[in-house]
Amino acid sequence: TKILNCQPQDVLNKKCYQVLHHADCPKVNCPKLIASDTKKTQRIAYFEENIDKHFEETIDPILDANGLSMGTVHTIKDVTEQHKIAAQLMITDRLASLGELSAGLAHELNNPLTSVIGFSELIQEKILPEDLRQDIQIISQEAQRAAEIIRNLLTFARRHEPSKDWVDMNQIIHKVLAICNYGQKVHNIQLITNLDPNLPEIKADYFQMQQVLLNIVINAEYFMTQSHGEGTIVISSRKFNDSIQISIRDDGPGMSENVLNHIFDPFFTTKEVGKGTGLGLSIGHGIITQHGGKLYAESSEGKGATFFIEIPINQPD
Ligand SMILES: Nc1ncnc2c1ncn2[C@@H]1O[C@H](COP(=O)(O)OP(=O)(O)OP(=O)(O)O)[C@@H](O)[C@H]1O
Ligand SMILES: [Mg+2]
Repeated sequence: TKILNCQPQDVLNKKCYQVLHHADCPKVNCPKLIASDTKKTQRIAYFEENIDKHFEETIDPILDANGLSMGTVHTIKDVTEQHKIAAQLMITDRLASLGELSAGLAHELNNPLTSVIGFSELIQEKILPEDLRQDIQIISQEAQRAAEIIRNLLTFARRHEPSKDWVDMNQIIHKVLAICNYGQKVHNIQLITNLDPNLPEIKADYFQMQQVLLNIVINAEYFMTQSHGEGTIVISSRKFNDSIQISIRDDGPGMSENVLNHIFDPFFTTKEVGKGTGLGLSIGHGIITQHGGKLYAESSEGKGATFFIEIPINQPD
């Protein structure tokens, strides 16, 4: 009953499909029926939506003296935590290899781009017909935009060691909100903060923390404004086990499962062309991982999104 989040009276005299799957009849290919029929142990793994848990279940048939099935014994193991860890490791792994790839790519592109920028500036110093001058200005601006993307990419790829000091995350949150203030008034964004005044300080890189939070808040603001022209952001902080946890919740459009699976990939973006590079969250993920912490999101389509940052209070050096 603890695994199933319910009381003993909720399961007594009930069928397994009622208790586990909240269904009125057994599932197609129900392994319990197969175990009874074949008299062989069945093993299954599944995700139970109702309680948001991953289970591994073994179903052993009980046979009477004549070898006839009398019933079954179900052993259920909650493997939700293992699933989460495996998913986290997969992202970290994928990001590490993408990081190497992008570092190489960024270096290769840096030199030709520096030439494009340099030469287009040299040409602009010459006497030119007006239409040509404008075209060259565009070349120069766009090349600088590309260089900016590459700079971001290098920050993501290099993973330089954070310079850590004791910081009060509440104070960083206030700072980030102050930076965003202007935009939010313009866009009808309401801000609610729910900060634990006794939040312990952690050892972290002040500017990196600011960067991570800023990107999450700007994302929330962007997507809420895009879909509803307004919205509410709730930022909370609290002590959570041996970590501090910061959550940033918005009531914007949310994300489909498919989008959610890729938000930490570098260059993944659903913003309009020219509006986002898709590097914000992948850089953020790298930064929080380097602080021994976790950055993850929960969301479903149409229901807003919540981003969680968890950083251990006492990090191993
Ligand atoms: N609050 C949110 N609501 C809905 N979708 C979101 C939200 N935050 C992030 N996303 C999704 O995650 C994607 C990646 O976000 P990320 O910050 O990495 O890049 P970006 O914001 O698109 O570009 P950049 O941060 O480089 O300007 C977004 O394009 C969007 O699809
Ligand atoms: Mg972003």
